[in-house]
Formats: sequence, structure tokens, C-alpha cells
Amino acid sequence: MKIQKFKKRIGIIGFGCVGQGLYDVVEANKHLGLEVGRICVKDKEKPRTLPTAAFTYDVQELLQDKSLDILAELISDPEEALLIVRQALLQGRTVVSANKKMIAENLPELIQLQQRYGGVLLYEASVCGSIPILRTLEAYYGAEPLLEVRGILNGSSNYILSKLQNEGGTYASALQQAQALGFAEADPALDVEGIDALNKLCILAAHAYGLLVHPDQVLHFGISHITPEVVELAASLGAKIKLVATIKPDQEGNVSLQVIPTFVTADDALHAVEAEFNGVEINARFAGQQFLKGRGAGSHPTGSAVWADVTAALRGYRYTYPKLCVNSPAAVMAADAVTLLLQGPEQQLKSLLQQLRPLEVYSMEVPGQVVVRVKPQEVFQQQELIKQNNIFVALIPQSVPLEDVLQLDASPAAAFVS
Ligand code: HSE
Repeated sequence: MKIQKFKKRIGIIGFGCVGQGLYDVVEANKHLGLEVGRICVKDKEKPRTLPTAAFTYDVQELLQDKSLDILAELISDPEEALLIVRQALLQGRTVVSANKKMIAENLPELIQLQQRYGGVLLYEASVCGSIPILRTLEAYYGAEPLLEVRGILNGSSNYILSKLQNEGGTYASALQQAQALGFAEADPALDVEGIDALNKLCILAAHAYGLLVHPDQVLHFGISHITPEVVELAASLGAKIKLVATIKPDQEGNVSLQVIPTFVTADDALHAVEAEFNGVEINARFAGQQFLKGRGAGSHPTGSAVWADVTAALRGYRYTYPKLCVNSPAAVMAADAVTLLLQGPEQQLKSLLQQLRPLEVYSMEVPGQVVVRVKPQEVFQQQELIKQNNIFVALIPQSVPLEDVLQLDASPAAAFVS
């Protein structure tokens, strides 16, 4: 059987790291017959790899051009991206997007627009770069209950953590490198505050569990306040700090979600996910455990994911949201208490502990470091306070014995809670 050629034209909106990546992949696959029809960019002054004549600066030229068979929306501004995708879907067009923030915050509307006007929206590139996770959840696990989905979903944070934990060096220089390599968002706070991973997790939840949840409703912390002392503690326990995103259903079928730096031990598949790589572990009711690992950020890996969507959409593929059709779970906070390491300015930590209502508190020898047992609901209620006070939070999972953490460094807690 011969491979079917396309003879189709694509319109690219946005020519940053991902747009350039898509362009390169399209050019490298010219024999398949797909060509770049038009490229729209915003900034007229920015140096580009193509002559000025290759670009237009008016997105309406692409949105009105019906000779373009497919549009790739690859800009970083989520509000503008929504306007573009909404207009395309109102016309019943086929569009692909990599804008996780826009998708996570507007998924109910985007699904409705596809249903009502018959257009198609694919967004594999928005979650875990080159890992085909949405396709896997949709096409393979669409009818199988999942016991848990967890992973490392942000390449920049993982890159920074890898640099800090494997090579030493400073947080600032690791972040700078992540930016220079094109891994970080235009606003890198989205990466290091855990928001990018959170947006991806909410998109995963729709495909893995049929849960539509707004990111605001989900417990999340980032890595921006990590300290050398935390890195040292993790190493002494034979663990690494990783930014882990988790979705887990409870007995009633409701689903809890969280993004939180976590002590990850060497027997965990996520332990070996380094640099800009992402990894997702699916624990399926019948298939058992499966692990997908690949580049989660970067021009060509993400361009490849967009290209996969473009070619799939042109062959008639669309998401069917199989879990959404049969399930209507609610997003809940996990009921069981968790063990957290908190590190921050001593005074702020002290006042946080009074608000947090922990079940247990263990102070550590390192000033400003404390271990607590606390209900996730309480943590969620104090989430903003914790962030405002520059306190680093890390989950100590059951695989890391609390005795080991405390033996290393314990002293009576009274001074902290009084
Ligand atoms: N800033 C994102 C990351 C890019 O670092 O993972 C890929 O979504």
C-alpha cells in the first residue's frame, strides 16, 4: 500500500520556538505534499530565519483564507490564542494548538464549539511535547478505567532540578539555560510556579477520566523556592526532588489532582527522567502499569507533536472524548493526610503553621525546615499564603520512611508550633 499524499496547505500562526519547529518538520517532509501556505507573526522587528516576504502580520488573512486546509495556532498569549481558535472553530475549521493554558482554561467551550460547528481541534503538543499521551489515552485507554496517571509534565522545571541535583550550580543559571534552549515559557514563572504542569494535568484529566476541571480548583506548587538544603536532604535519602503531577480517582469515582515537588526514590520510573524530558506513568485497571518517556519541550520535539496532529487531522482524526461521554466525576481533594516538608523564612513558617492546622509537626535541624502531616484540603486553603511567603513545599511519599527523614535531622517540634 502506498502512503497517501496530502496536497494540502497549512497556515501557521506564530513563529517562535514551536512554529519554527513545525516549519522545519514540514520542510523535511515535503515529499508528503503538505506545504506551508501562510505564516502570521506579530512582531515586525524580531529577526526571523525566513525573508520578511514569508510573513503576514494580520491573522485575519489566515482566518479568512479558505484555501488553507488547516491552521496551526502556535502563539504564547493564551487570550489571543483563544480568540483565534474560537473564530476558526466557529467556521467549522480544522485547527491544532499547542497552547496548554488556553486549552486547560477553556476546554468545555472548545469541546462545545467542535460539537456544534463540526470543526476539529487537536492539541497533542500542549501536553508533554513529543510524548503521544493524549492519543494514547483517547485511542487506547478510552474504555479502560485508570487507577492513576502521574508524571513529570514540565520540561523546564525538570531541567532546572536536574542541573541543581546532578551538577550543582545555581537556580538562576539553570533557569537561564532552560530559557536559552527554548524550553521555558515566554513568562517562565508559569514553568517554575507549577502552573504549566497544572494546565497540562487538567487537559490529561479530561482525556483520562472525563473530568473537566478549571486549573484554579487544583492544588499546585512549583519549584521556585527550592533550596540547597532541600537538595541535600533528598540526596541523603537516596531520592531526587521532581515536580510530580498526579490524577487519582477515589472509591466513588471522583478524582483528586495535584502538582507538587516530591521526593522521588530510585525505584520510581520518574527518578530517571532528567533534563527537559517528561515521563507519564499510566496505571490501568486491566493493562497494568505503563510508562511513556520523551522530550517534553524544545523546538523540534514539540514541532513533531504539532506535525503529528496536522497529518492526523488531515486524515480525519479527531478526539472523541470517550470518557467524557460516560463519566461525570467531580474534582475532589484527596481525603488522606499527606507528609510534607516545608522550608521557608522562619517567621513566615511559624505563622503558616498556625493557619495550616497540621495533624503533626516535626521540626528539623536546618533553620526554617519542618515536616508536617496535614490534610490536602488544609494545604489547598493555605496555598496562596504558602506561595506569598516563599515557602518551598515537597511531598514525602510513603516510599520514603518518615523515620529516615527525621532520624537524619529531628528535634522537638514545640519551638515551632508554640
Ligand atoms: N515550557 C514548557 C515546558 C514547554 O518547559 O515543559 C513545553 O510545554
